[in-house]
Amino acid sequence: MTGVYFSGTGNTKHCVELLCALLDPEMPVIPLEESGSRNKIAEAQEILLGYPVQFSNIPYFVRDYIRRNADLWAGKTVFCVATMGAFSGDGAGCAARLLQKYGAHVCGGLHLQMPDSVCDVKALKKSADQNRSLIQQADEKIRRTAAELKNGRYPQEGLSLFSHIAGLLGQRLWFYTRTSGYSDKLKIGSACTGCGRCAALCPMQNLIVRDGKAAGGDRCTMCYRCISSCPEQAITLLGRQLYEQCRFDRYKGGLKA
Ligand SMILES: Cc1cc2nc3c(=O)[nH]c(=O)nc-3n(C[C@H](O)[C@H](O)[C@H](O)COP(=O)(O)O)c2cc1C
Ligand code: SF4
Ligand code: SF4
Repeated sequence: MTGVYFSGTGNTKHCVELLCALLDPEMPVIPLEESGSRNKIAEAQEILLGYPVQFSNIPYFVRDYIRRNADLWAGKTVFCVATMGAFSGDGAGCAARLLQKYGAHVCGGLHLQMPDSVCDVKALKKSADQNRSLIQQADEKIRRTAAELKNGRYPQEGLSLFSHIAGLLGQRLWFYTRTSGYSDKLKIGSACTGCGRCAALCPMQNLIVRDGKAAGGDRCTMCYRCISSCPEQAITLLGRQLYEQCRFDRYKGGLKA
């Protein structure tokens, strides 16, 4: 099996790396945006695919990747892992249905609740302790799941018709336009010092520094990586004000930076 994931603020990276390491410490695990990911997927028969849920849907980059590489999936067995801040209905099912369309066999789905990565909208914010406890619970679920998978039992979370309807009616229908393409709505405020950190981190190469200030393009997949890492807290996307930069490494490392 090979692990591939897309992760904005580190939650999905952590979950996929932990699950893969528990299944087989030698298992290759690679970010989807890395240039070698296509070859790694092509070589593998079984894929573990992880991504964060956005508005009860798949990040547009992940959908775009699956479609652009439509020839990759026929005959592959895929286990879908969706991380989410609260609820998705069919987070795993969204990728599963697309992969099945291109000939993959989806053997299971796993949903993991993690800290919410949207840091410029106040709704549903949790304290640092609550987020650390969420991570602990997710880690325990990952350990249980690894044991199940080793025994050939595959959880089917997010794959049923009931989950599909819950995902559609819960959020996806109302917010469909938010995830139907890349976004050009990134806002960079006057606090930007032009340090270039955001441009170096963006998985979509959607940021450049020009005349001492960062500027966003029209290929943002709303992953919140730049927003949660800007030292000046100068970037916003869905909201206009930053509440707390949400990054997995801050919770794990004790919220120092
Ligand atoms: C644009 C956006 C939309 C999101 N929508 C949802 C959602 O519909 N339901 C949910 O439970 N979490 C939602 N989240 C939270 C993320 O799915 C969650 O924090 C995820 O674990 C982030 O993973 P990452 O750190 O790997 O990017 C959303 C996050 C973003 C950035
Ligand atoms: S990380 Fe922040 S301060 Fe640095 S260039 Fe990007 S927006 Fe500006
Ligand atoms: S611009 Fe920021 S939020 Fe958008 S894809 Fe790049 S890192 Fe993610």
